[in-house]
Amino acid sequence: MCGIVGAVAQREVSAILLEGLRRLEYRGYDSAGMSVISPQSGLASRKAVGKVSALASALEASPLPGTTGIAHTRWATHGQPSERNAHPHLSGDIALVHNGIIENHAALRERLEGLGYRFASETDTETIVHLIHHYYQQQRDLLGAVKHAVTDLEGAYGLAVINAEQPDRLVCARKGSPLVIGIGIGENFIASDHLALRQVTDRFAYLEEGDIAEVAPGHFRVWNADDEPVVRDVNQIDTAAESADKGQYRHFMLKEIYEQPSVIRRSLAGRLGSRKVLTEALGAKAGEILKNIENVQIVACGTSYHAGMVAKYWIEGFAGVPCRVEVASEFRYRKFKVQQNTLLVTISQSGETADTLAALRLAQTLDYAATLAICNVNQSSLVRESDLFLMTEAGPEIGVASTKAFTTQLVALILLTVAIGRYHDLDEAEEEAIVKSLHALPDLITETLSLDDDIKKMSNAFAEKHHALFLGRGVQWPVAMEGALKLKEISYIHAESYPAGELKHGPLALVDSDMPVIAVAPNDELLEKLKSNLQEVQARGGQLFVFADKAAGFEESPGLDIIAVPHVDEIIAPLIYTIPLQLLSYHVAILKGTDVDQPRNLAKSVTVE
Ligand code: AGP
Repeated sequence: MCGIVGAVAQREVSAILLEGLRRLEYRGYDSAGMSVISPQSGLASRKAVGKVSALASALEASPLPGTTGIAHTRWATHGQPSERNAHPHLSGDIALVHNGIIENHAALRERLEGLGYRFASETDTETIVHLIHHYYQQQRDLLGAVKHAVTDLEGAYGLAVINAEQPDRLVCARKGSPLVIGIGIGENFIASDHLALRQVTDRFAYLEEGDIAEVAPGHFRVWNADDEPVVRDVNQIDTAAESADKGQYRHFMLKEIYEQPSVIRRSLAGRLGSRKVLTEALGAKAGEILKNIENVQIVACGTSYHAGMVAKYWIEGFAGVPCRVEVASEFRYRKFKVQQNTLLVTISQSGETADTLAALRLAQTLDYAATLAICNVNQSSLVRESDLFLMTEAGPEIGVASTKAFTTQLVALILLTVAIGRYHDLDEAEEEAIVKSLHALPDLITETLSLDDDIKKMSNAFAEKHHALFLGRGVQWPVAMEGALKLKEISYIHAESYPAGELKHGPLALVDSDMPVIAVAPNDELLEKLKSNLQEVQARGGQLFVFADKAAGFEESPGLDIIAVPHVDEIIAPLIYTIPLQLLSYHVAILKGTDVDQPRNLAKSVTVE
């Protein structure tokens, strides 16, 4: 989704801003732009549709000298991707970039047109810059004008503003969209994600909801939502924990798939004893809170929602605690009753997903016992606003298609299952068995990754297909859902998933020789039932591709391709069976020649509704 970078320095900033945008490319966007203030020629901008490299070419042809600037990657919401809709938007000597959506933009536009402003774009954002300009005319102070303007805005924003009449500063504000200040020596920066600024600093101050900041080369000042001056903590980022390059891999997605054994090891470190889960890892208050929990409500989006779906089977099956799971965009707009002593669990890689955050904020107004965030980003809004958090420790995930974030979320959810189950149906022997399975997990994932060559061969059968059906039963149904999501998002093949028992209630009508059917088949209590369902597919000429436990008793035959997966314990089977589905979608995408790491129309972090 949209990205913001800004700089106030004593050196040229356009190269810094451009590098910042490159580092945000993984989030998904469709145009880019930059404005810089030059002491000689004032405010100037360059914009380009498409990749940041197109903006780089525009800058090469016509450089932007100057020491104060802002830049943006835009993911179109209001108005098509075009140069005139790309940010920064201008009003007189003021330039602005914005992430988020202004919901009352139509009313503001009418009001501003009445004041004589002419709009150059179709965006909601342009209303903000004219509004700031309007107030600036009255008080000749950019900070005051921004403070005034944001009181007129309804919706979400992370924004940054510069003004050629006050070239030594930048003003930024956040509400519903993250912003961070990067602290340098004699220079300061801002960005929507600290990753954009790692080339210039490792010290960051995260703005909180409602904050407005004035940033100058030698200092920055912050005011909270009540307009009181506040000091935000400065965090030093651990460089070793952050490596955002592809290394030997062709794509981030492949690198991230192969990182899974090591990141899972990291996410278990310090949380597993030899026989027990160390629930202290959930925080000092965790024991006190969890012992009273009688229900769990999970809320998330996309892949994180699938992790929640898997966890429902664990929390009900192992812990014996009722668990509901809902996509955040539905949860936040529905009337429902909160069960007594319910723990609200949000799951999010980024911790900035607009719907998940809104669901958390809604829950805080309701009668939940506590909120827990399972998240991959320290200092994200979700983490900071929850009572408890469990970090997934996957490291930065750059590929838009979530892989290692998903499996580390599952690890965190197993830990949570145990932490809650202890006060309910999970006895010591069962906990010990789960801990043993978790200790074995990283090596079993490595073993499963060795199926890569076979899966690559299998992928040839999908390159010309337009549809695919993913089947699983029980806890493997959400694994099938995740497999279908991976295939559709990076190969653009239409893929659906069903619990295999539902086949004959409709989807069987789709099955013919053009419809590959992928099934995940561990050797569990539902295996025989799944086999019957698969026979229904074979009998109708469907092409079957089954990832099956070595001991599941499948034999290859015409129309039935088998890949044998290591035998694993029930609790970790969803993680193991996810791996071949990730690899399959990756190889199919390679054959289709799609943009694996940045699939069309998608964004890594969905910070708007
Ligand atoms: C997964 O491959 C997707 N890119 C997407 O579904 C993602 O999981 C979803 O947008 C939620 O993101 P979050 O985990 O950062 O909240």
